Order: sequence, then structure tokens, then C-alpha cells
Amino acid sequence: MRIAATLALLIAALAGLPAAGADLARGGQVYALHCAVCHGPSGQGGVPGAPKFNRGERLMQSDLALAESVRRGRNIMPAFAGVLRDREILDVIAYLRTLQR
Ligand code: HEC
Repeated sequence: MRIAATLALLIAALAGLPAAGADLARGGQVYALHCAVCHGPSGQGGVPGAPKFNRGERLMQSDLALAESVRRGRNIMPAFAGVLRDREILDVIAYLRTLQR
């Protein structure tokens, strides 16, 4: 199950699907519901240590690497595996990239 999910992410990343096929509207909804509380409604940051996506912080990493962090959680950021589908995680990562100013 975990391996299958990771493989699905890898295949999606290799195929360039996140950029091409991501649903930004759904990514925005996921962001508002699950992420904005810590990362700020416009990605300006919130809780201490949360990357400021509007400044592009951490976004130089690949979609796959960012998706793994979101799935597993990182320090105070909870793991979203089992909360969000991999597809939703890729959508929200595509949305994060639109927050850069
Ligand atoms: C409880 C607060 C909290 C929530 C909720 C939260 N984050 Fe985070 N997030 C953080 C913090 C703090 C960090 C920095 C962790 C570190 O590297 O020390 C972080 C880091 C990240 C990173 C960078 C990971 C890396 O590998 O550098 C991404 C991407 C991210 N968050 C996306 C999201 C997304 C997408 C959501 C919603 C699905 C979300 N976060 C929800 C607090 C949160």
C-alpha cells in the first residue's frame, strides 16, 4: 500500500503529471482547509518555522520531495498520509507554486 502510493507519486512525477494535470481549484480548497492555518492564507507563513511559500521558500525542491514531506509530516507539521489522497497532495503542491510572488 505505502510502496504502491510512493510508486504512484514517482510515476506521476516522472511523467510530469503534477504540472500538467494538477487541479489547482482543488489544490486551493485543500490548502485553505488543511494548510493555511500554519502557512498563512497567501503563503506568508504563520506558525514559527513554517516556510513562506509566497517567497518561494522550500519550493525549489521537486514535487516528489515536497509530497513526501507532506505525506510523512515534518517537525510540528502533521503527516497527511491517510488524511489526503496522493492526488490531492500533488494538487496542493501545484497550488503552493502559484503563491510565489
Ligand atoms: C501545524 C502546522 C502546519 C500545518 C497544518 C501544515 N504545515 Fe506544512 N510545515 C509546517 C512547518 C512548521 C514546516 C517546516 C518544517 C521543518 O522543516 O522544520 C512545514 C513545512 C512544509 C513544507 C516544506 C517541506 C520540506 O521538505 O521542506 C511543505 C511543502 C509544506 N509544509 C506543505 C504543507 C501543506 C501542503 C499543508 C497542508 C496539506 C501543510 N504544510 C500543513 C507547518 C504546518
